[in-house]
Amino acid sequence: MTHPAEHDDPRTPDDAARRAQDVVARILARQGTALASTAGQDRSGDEGDLEREARAGTRRVQGLAHDREEISEVEYRQVRLERVVLVGLRIDTTEEEAENSLRELAALAETAGSEVLDGLIQRRSQPDPATYLGSGKAKELADIVAACDADTVIVDEELSPSQRRGLEDVVDAKVVDRTALILDIFAQHAKSREGKAQVELAQLEYLLPRLRGWGDSMSRQAGGRVAGGAGIGSRGPGETKIELDRRRIRTRMAKLREDIRKMEPARRTQRLARRRGAVPSVAIAGYTNAGKSTLLNRLTGAGVLVEDALFATLDPTVRRATTPDGRAYTLTDTVGFVRNLPTQLVEAFRSTLEEVGEADVIVHVVDAAHPDPVGQVEAVRSVLATIEGAADIPELIALNKADLATPEQLALLRTAFPGAVAVSARTGFGVDDLARVLEGMLPRPRIEVDLVVPYSRGDLVHAVHEDGEVSFEEYVDRGTRVVARVDEALAARLREAAASSDD
Ligand code: GTP
Repeated sequence: MTHPAEHDDPRTPDDAARRAQDVVARILARQGTALASTAGQDRSGDEGDLEREARAGTRRVQGLAHDREEISEVEYRQVRLERVVLVGLRIDTTEEEAENSLRELAALAETAGSEVLDGLIQRRSQPDPATYLGSGKAKELADIVAACDADTVIVDEELSPSQRRGLEDVVDAKVVDRTALILDIFAQHAKSREGKAQVELAQLEYLLPRLRGWGDSMSRQAGGRVAGGAGIGSRGPGETKIELDRRRIRTRMAKLREDIRKMEPARRTQRLARRRGAVPSVAIAGYTNAGKSTLLNRLTGAGVLVEDALFATLDPTVRRATTPDGRAYTLTDTVGFVRNLPTQLVEAFRSTLEEVGEADVIVHVVDAAHPDPVGQVEAVRSVLATIEGAADIPELIALNKADLATPEQLALLRTAFPGAVAVSARTGFGVDDLARVLEGMLPRPRIEVDLVVPYSRGDLVHAVHEDGEVSFEEYVDRGTRVVARVDEALAARLREAAASSDD
C-alpha cells in the first residue's frame, strides 16, 4: 500500500517550503546572521555595515501603491496571505535562535498558503513603540515591499495595535503579526464543530483588545464618515460603534463558550467508550511538522491527511492499529505544538489535548534533522506538563526523519534521550522497531484464562486475538483451547461461552 507521503510531486508544498528556505538563507546572509557564513568568524560587521549591505541589496521601485483592504465591518480580519515579506527583531537572541525563529516563521507563512518573497531582520535593544522597527528600518521595509510587489508583511512577534497601524502606515501594505498568522492557520484547518468553535473563540479573544485599533483605522479608511455622526465632545470617532461591536463580540464569545461546554459530554462519552473496551490507547504528540501524521500513517496504513504544512493536524484523529503480535490499540494524532503558542490558543486547545492525558503511552515524535530538536522537545514537554494526567504517562521518543539527520545528530539525540528509537516515517526505516518497543510499553491485559471456546463462537476467539495476548492455542474436540491474557469484560464473555460448551 502506498502512503500519501511517498507521492512527492515536485511542485507540491515540499518545493514551496524549499523556496521559502532559500529566501530565509538569503535574508540571513544579507543580514550577516547566517550560521554558515559566520562560522568561525566574529559577529559579522557592525550595525552600520549591515544596514549598508541591506540597502545595497534592495532595489527601489517607485509608484507601486498597495490598496489596503477596506474594512467595513468589525470582524476578525481574515489573513488572506499571498505575497509576503517577513520581519523579525533580534533582541537578546543568539544568531542560531534568530535563524530558527525566521525559518519557523517562513514555514508558518507557507502553511498559511502564502509565498515568501523576502524579509528583514534587525538588531535592536527593544521594539520601537510606534513602528516596532523604528522609522528608518520601517522605510527600508517599505522599499523591500515595493520592490518585490508584496501585499503583506508578517512580523515575528505579537504587535500592539498602534505598532501594527504605525508600521502599516509606513510600509503601505497589510501588516500581520505571528499570532494572527497562527490563528489563521488554525482557522483554515479546523474541521470538527468543536475545533471551529474553539478557533473562533480564540480569534475573538485576540480581536477584543484590538478593537480600538481596527476601529481607528476603519474610521480613517472610511474617510471620516464614522466621525461625522459622533459630534463635539464625544469620546472620539467610532467610539459608539466600537462599544457596540465589543458587546456583540462578547455575546458571541459567551455563546461559543456555552456551545463548547455542551460538546464536552459527547466527547467524554466517546473517550469512556474507548476506555471501557480497554483497548490500549497511544497518543502521538510532537512539535509541528515533526512528522506525526506521516508516522501515524506508517503505523496504521490509514490514509490520514499529510501535508508539508504546520498544523495540518488540528482535530485529533483516532485510528486503530495493531501491535506486531496482533493486539489492537488506538492511535490518536494531536495538534502540533509550537513555541510561543498564542495564549488564546493554549487555552482554546487544552480540551483537544486532554486526550493526551488519557493515553496509556505518548509517542513523542521529534524531527531529528531540525537545528534545535532539544528545544522542540522541551517546548512540547512544557505544554504536556500542563495537561492533567499527562505527566505520569510513559513517553516513547521517536527520532523521526532519520533519513535526513546526520549520524552525529542522531547519536547526540540518543544520548540526550535514552530509549529513543530512530525512525523515518517517510522511508519506513525503524518503524518496525518502534512498533515493537511500543508494544512492550502498552498495558497488558490483566486476566489469565485457559479455557475451551466452542467452535460456534469463532467471534470470541477472534476477539482474543485482536484485544488479548494469546500464549497457547489448540483445537480439541469441544472447541478451541486458548491460553491468553485478556481484559475483564472479554474474560467474562469467554467464561460464559466455555460454560455453555460444558453443558
Ligand atoms: P502538524 O500537522 O503540523 O503537527 O505536522 P505533523 O507533525 O503531523 O507532520 P507531517 O506528518 O504532516 O509531516 C510534515 C512534513 O515532514 C511532510 O512534508 C512529511 O512528508 C515530512 N516528513 C515526515 N516524516 C519524514 C521523514 O521521516 N523523513 C523526511 N525526509 N520527511 C518526513
